[in-house]
Amino acid sequence: MTEDTRWGDVEGYLAKTVVDEDEVLVGIRTRTVQAGLRPIEVSATDGALLALWCRLVGARRVLEIGTLGGYSATWLARAVGVQGSVTTLEMDPRAAEVAQENWRLAGVGDRVELILGAAADTLNSLVSSGTDPYDLVFIDADKKSNPAYLEAALALTHPGSLIVIDNVVRGGRVLGDSDDPDVVGTRRVLEMLGSDPRLQATAVQTVSSKGWDGFAVAYVLG
Ligand SMILES: C[S@@+](CC[C@H](N)C(=O)[O-])C[C@H]1O[C@@H](n2cnc3c(N)ncnc32)[C@H](O)[C@@H]1O
Repeated sequence: MTEDTRWGDVEGYLAKTVVDEDEVLVGIRTRTVQAGLRPIEVSATDGALLALWCRLVGARRVLEIGTLGGYSATWLARAVGVQGSVTTLEMDPRAAEVAQENWRLAGVGDRVELILGAAADTLNSLVSSGTDPYDLVFIDADKKSNPAYLEAALALTHPGSLIVIDNVVRGGRVLGDSDDPDVVGTRRVLEMLGSDPRLQATAVQTVSSKGWDGFAVAYVLG
């Protein structure tokens, strides 16, 4: 048995034993793949962690960058409750269509708003429109743009908000001098997290069926 297989087996065990990934969430993952989208959504255990963070900060307004088939947005939408809302940004019209159907079937369509378009443009519009701040921002789109997304997240949050960034280890490629734009963007955003006095941050390595990766989480101090 390879290490990778054991990571996947343990992830399945933890998800089954600890996390309530119900048939609705499993259905979202299934329909996402059936629609021809890549299975690159967060794991069930990570979805549950996002939901826990929402509850811990009492999040009512959540912003997500990178929707895919709406899997993580469903965890977030459930966590914010009927009074809350999730705004999620996606540039792929096919993903948007699949996600909206998934939210309808999950019964959370009334609290999720998808804004179609390049996330950088949408974020600029949100900042310039003076929208109310978000309590939690989940960054999970094109990794090369993570520095710009973190800047926008800082403009769109308030002291006490959480900012979460996925896939910051990239199989260890974050170490070294790769000129892959996604690695460069990841390294830069980690440096920003570590040096910005407005943030208290950490980054954690993870292993799962998708291999070796990690996430960063930052608390907005003010
Ligand atoms: C990793 S997937 C998101 C997974 C989702 N957060 C989940 O866990 O269920 C990344 C998504 O970001 C979208 N994306 C990539 N670059 C983007 C951009 N510049 N603007 C908006 N969306 C983008 C992709 O089309 C893809 O659907």
